[in-house]
Amino acid sequence: MSEPFLIGDTMTGGYGKGPDILHDCTIAVNPGEIAVIVGPNGAGKSTAMKAVFGMLEVRTGSVRLDGEDITSLSPQDRVIKGMGFVPQVRNIFTSLTVEENLEMGAFIRKDDFKDTMAQVYDLFPILKEKRLQAAGELSGGQRQQVAVGRALMTQPKVLMLDEPTAGVSPIVMDELFDRIIEVARTGIPILMVEQNARQALEIADKGYVLVQGRNAHTGTGKELLADEEVRRSFLGG
Ligand SMILES: Nc1ncnc2c1ncn2[C@@H]1O[C@H](COP(=O)(O)OP(=O)(O)OP(=O)(O)O)[C@@H](O)[C@H]1O
Ligand SMILES: [Mg+2]
Repeated sequence: MSEPFLIGDTMTGGYGKGPDILHDCTIAVNPGEIAVIVGPNGAGKSTAMKAVFGMLEVRTGSVRLDGEDITSLSPQDRVIKGMGFVPQVRNIFTSLTVEENLEMGAFIRKDDFKDTMAQVYDLFPILKEKRLQAAGELSGGQRQQVAVGRALMTQPKVLMLDEPTAGVSPIVMDELFDRIIEVARTGIPILMVEQNARQALEIADKGYVLVQGRNAHTGTGKELLADEEVRRSFLGG
């Protein structure tokens, strides 16, 4: 098997001096793919994402991006290497306007980012309409669009999303998934955590079920949706 574009490889680790949360956990994504991580609350999905982004120490295992070992890099250096990350919580600046949030997203860029902002507004037209409004005044689904848009402002080579559809209605979820598929089609591989396991696996090229910090099931989205055990335990039958 060839080296994935982005891989957190057999990661074991936890927070600070605390116990291990991840146990030989592997998640990866390849160009052209949407990879989805599902699993029960507390399984370590966000922890695995944070480990890949460098927000907690990986005690054993490694993180590699495009063949390069980045395990010891800071999150900011990973952004410079091309990683975009939308965390599960506190992913926007509520007191800043939509446009200021996007500008903050471009913090590492020294070139003109107006074109990228125009692309984000094309992808999420509502954000253009509300660009001068405080992000905190937006609906849940609109805030998630700000968060994804902010991450796109660095022109990432890979995008990591932790529950992009958290707290939104089914219709808004479908819309967000459509936009995410659109982003993936532009060639940006997407690694995302999703609570809406069934819907997410339907659009996933690859799926990971994590349980208690371990890989419990791995396969294509289709394979996992068809797997009896996965269906019974994680998809409600
Ligand atoms: N900052 C932290 N410091 C210490 N422990 C933490 C921290 N964040 C999470 N944990 C612990 O790590 C474990 C996994 O949490 P994590 O947030 O990764 O789960 P999750 O799969 O993302 O859950 P959810 O579906 O609820 O978002 C939990 O036992 C949690 O208490
Ligand atoms: Mg989480």
